[in-house]
Amino acid sequence: MNAAAEDPEIDLMKEVISLCKQRGFVFQSSEIYGGLKSCYDYGPLGVELKRNVMNEWWRAVVHERENVVGLDASIIMHSKVWEASGHLAGFSDPLVDCLITKERFRADQAPRPGAGEEILLTCADKGQAKTYQKAIAERFSVELERQGKSLRGLRVVDAETFGFFPPEASEPTATFSFRGYVSPTVGSPFLSEERQFNLMFRSQLGAVDSLDEAAAALAGKNLPAEEIRKIIDEKMRESAIYLRPETAQAMFVQFANIQQSLALKLPFGIAQMGKSFRNEITVEHFIFRSCEFEQMELEYFVEPGKHAEALEYWRQERLNWYLRFANDKSKFRVRQHEAQELAHYADKCYDIEYEYPWGWGELEGVASRTDYDLKKHSEHSGVNLKYFDQEKENPETGKKGAHYFPYVVEPAAGATRTTLMYLLDAFAYDSPRPDAQGKVKRRRVLKLHPRLAPYKVAVLPLVKRDGMPDLAREIVQEFFRNGVNARYDEQHQIGKRYARHDEVGTPYCLTVDGQSIEDNTVTIRERDSTNQERIKIDEAFAVVKARLEGA
Ligand code: GAP
Repeated sequence: MNAAAEDPEIDLMKEVISLCKQRGFVFQSSEIYGGLKSCYDYGPLGVELKRNVMNEWWRAVVHERENVVGLDASIIMHSKVWEASGHLAGFSDPLVDCLITKERFRADQAPRPGAGEEILLTCADKGQAKTYQKAIAERFSVELERQGKSLRGLRVVDAETFGFFPPEASEPTATFSFRGYVSPTVGSPFLSEERQFNLMFRSQLGAVDSLDEAAAALAGKNLPAEEIRKIIDEKMRESAIYLRPETAQAMFVQFANIQQSLALKLPFGIAQMGKSFRNEITVEHFIFRSCEFEQMELEYFVEPGKHAEALEYWRQERLNWYLRFANDKSKFRVRQHEAQELAHYADKCYDIEYEYPWGWGELEGVASRTDYDLKKHSEHSGVNLKYFDQEKENPETGKKGAHYFPYVVEPAAGATRTTLMYLLDAFAYDSPRPDAQGKVKRRRVLKLHPRLAPYKVAVLPLVKRDGMPDLAREIVQEFFRNGVNARYDEQHQIGKRYARHDEVGTPYCLTVDGQSIEDNTVTIRERDSTNQERIKIDEAFAVVKARLEGA
């Protein structure tokens, strides 16, 4: 059990975010300019950890399987891809603005008071309450009663109406149309129309500036705002390109090329990892939900009818993969989607969930995507993406050889979200104990699985003299030659260096001391137990390698 997660005094999320900055895992993007909301940079330790997560995924999903191959497609694809996939039409959230507070929020996630319930506006402070009271009076001609930072007097009449009820009144003196929900922060029912907001980032490809074209189309015309918007949107769309919101689509679009160039037979998979972009309305919990993130997705193609079995197989495989590197296995669960939760392309879906500090949330979706995508891309591109199965009997001719659209099972994971999850899982405080000076302290340690740890081993000369740095550097070189990420570290006294490496999850520290010069031995210290033993320098690489492999 993660000691930090158990201790109610510790705000685990705050501690992890602070460690990430202090130790070079994750920084706020463009921090010196005030930061860019929801964009993050992975520092020297973070890039190693994230790559290790992604390499382990690639190893388990591609390299250790005969029938899965990889793809690294461009992020920018033909805009017709997104038309066919349904992202241009359906990948949008219904957004609403509060007319008083200007808060913009998702209508489908807003609080919904029922008929007869009071609509209580709760402001940040008394000053804000006064401002909003005045704005409501000016715009809607009702004087709400101010009590501290609350504004009272509104009540839901029915599904479509809310009213203003002066104190003691049983009938409203004014009524307004009710959208069925209120703004999440203040609880205001004074709302704009819903607008669909596309989550894909749009840009332009090519030398033609579509703004010039839009300006030319609008010149001299006196049109209402809505018309102007429509014309600009049309002009922009003509040369629009989109940053991909998922890595999945390229694997459908390149299905025929990949299948034919490698003569692949069903069942087989195509895997891809890389950046995806979503203009998320709600960005939250550090790197859990950001606008730029990384995904690790597999499209596993099977004969129709074999998809249910494949779905169960991948659900278990993927859960096992997470558990393999986790300390606290009780924080994982699998939840099947309710019918109304299913994406438009799926007939069944599981979420692998993790218990984050704020509650259970998605880590990965494992979906049965039917033949939706291949069919859609065939329709929109005019290219036949059916698979030719030599073994299968054609029902029309009775002869061997049938064309059909394969079904797809898709385990879709987030690499950046998984990185956060393993940081949360690994963060721990040991029980308090006295240090060398007798001060009782708690050791902060990142109990990352050795395969995920940014550095596998740190080599530390006890002091910066008497040949110890040279010998330590020779040992580091030996690890480098063998492809193991080792770190030479001579800054500060040895206790501080151990603490530093505990905090970034380095599983082993090798210390070169006076005795090393005489008898060619070093001490090896193990991160979690802090136990130390002496080993021969000649055997150091083999010892660390064996321990890493056994982990
Ligand atoms: N191709 C299917 C697909 O993209 P998804 O559930 O939208 O499905 C898959 O995304 C995974 O990608 C999620 O389970 C999550 O781990 C990660 N993910 C999605 N949106 C994200 C975001 N805004 N920030 C970080 N990770 C995200």
